[in-house]
Amino acid sequence: MAGPSASASHLTSQTTDQPLLVRALAGEQIPRPPVWLMRQAGRYLSEYRELKGRHSFLELCRSPELATEVTMQPIRIIDPDAAIIFADILLPAAGMGFEIDFAPGPKIANPIRTRDDILRLRPADAVKSTGFVLAAIRQVRAELVRLAGNETRKALLGFAGAPFTMACYLLDQQPFKHFERTPMLAAEDPDAFHRFLQVLTETTIDYLVAQHESGADALQLFESWGGILPEEDYRRYALPYVRRIVEALEARGARIIFYVNGSSHLVSAMRDSGAHCLSIDSRTPMDRAEDIVGPDVALQGNIDPVHLYRPTAEISSEVESLFGKLRRRSRFILNLGHGILQTTPRESAIAFVAAAKRGWGDPQGT
Ligand code: CP3
Repeated sequence: MAGPSASASHLTSQTTDQPLLVRALAGEQIPRPPVWLMRQAGRYLSEYRELKGRHSFLELCRSPELATEVTMQPIRIIDPDAAIIFADILLPAAGMGFEIDFAPGPKIANPIRTRDDILRLRPADAVKSTGFVLAAIRQVRAELVRLAGNETRKALLGFAGAPFTMACYLLDQQPFKHFERTPMLAAEDPDAFHRFLQVLTETTIDYLVAQHESGADALQLFESWGGILPEEDYRRYALPYVRRIVEALEARGARIIFYVNGSSHLVSAMRDSGAHCLSIDSRTPMDRAEDIVGPDVALQGNIDPVHLYRPTAEISSEVESLFGKLRRRSRFILNLGHGILQTTPRESAIAFVAAAKRGWGDPQGT
């Protein structure tokens, strides 16, 4: 039973027991922006390459123990404020009947070739086909709690691919290069295209709801190829499905971070997704994105991954300059504009995280 002091501290401390990233998404006043890096687990870490020498990428994903270990490597080495579960956007497609491999990029043995291939598709059951991801989420969450001791634990992120981007990988077009087959299908056979995206949407909702229920604090939706569409087409062919996913997750109290690569022309469409947080790529200046989305939506990003090849002092000043533009915006998460590149020195990733932890810098916040 909670004593009087426990209930008093409950009244005054609000949500300081929540991970920093969760508090940033909620728009709380926090001492500094949280930081993590897209693709923070992976080949730029020798510890990951060592495990990859003994296991295939799919083995790492399918073993909850190994996926937990890989997810935790950057937590120990670069110490960001969030862990992102080690998995891949293509994994749920296996439950829809696709044979997926990685070498290291995705290889689909049986991509969609005909209209009938689309008509045969059925949504995947997340628990049956990706139960190993859900088990890894539970393990990582327990590990983050253990690591935190009496402190507030770090956040745990789940993720999925957005339906248009999933379709880009699952249509017959390997080796992956331009992905024009997906917009071509939308133009030639809108019924089949919409049916395809509908099945992907249902699969994604089931998968993300399961991740939320397994303990992910927030879920990032990766629209890696949305930028190939003109804004009107993005709004017509891709955005309605993203909205459906956001609505379904929001109804269950989950928080969505929506990332679109190559999205300079799509920021207002991204805002119309209804997502809690928009992850902006490096090509759009963050203050311009802020002008478009306003104060009520969180922003994430957007240092160019290439800038991590600069000397560490310059990485710090780049972070400071981005913070300067954002003037103590509460709803902000520092990240890169796309995944960290595999030849990045780990010292750069460490410097990036350390710069975020020095905070806003200017005590006046002007
Ligand atoms: O961010 C993280 O640390 C979590 C892990 C993660 C991976 N893939 C692991 C991975 C995440 C979030 C993804 C998402 C993903 N996968 C996206 C969206 C993000 C983006 O980059 O736009 C996409 C498009 C994919 C599909 C995919 N999987 C590609 C294009 C590749 C090849 C990447 C490359 O750099 O060669 C993969 C394989 C993959 N996914 C690797 C990792 C660590 C490399 C596999 C290996 O180590 O052999």
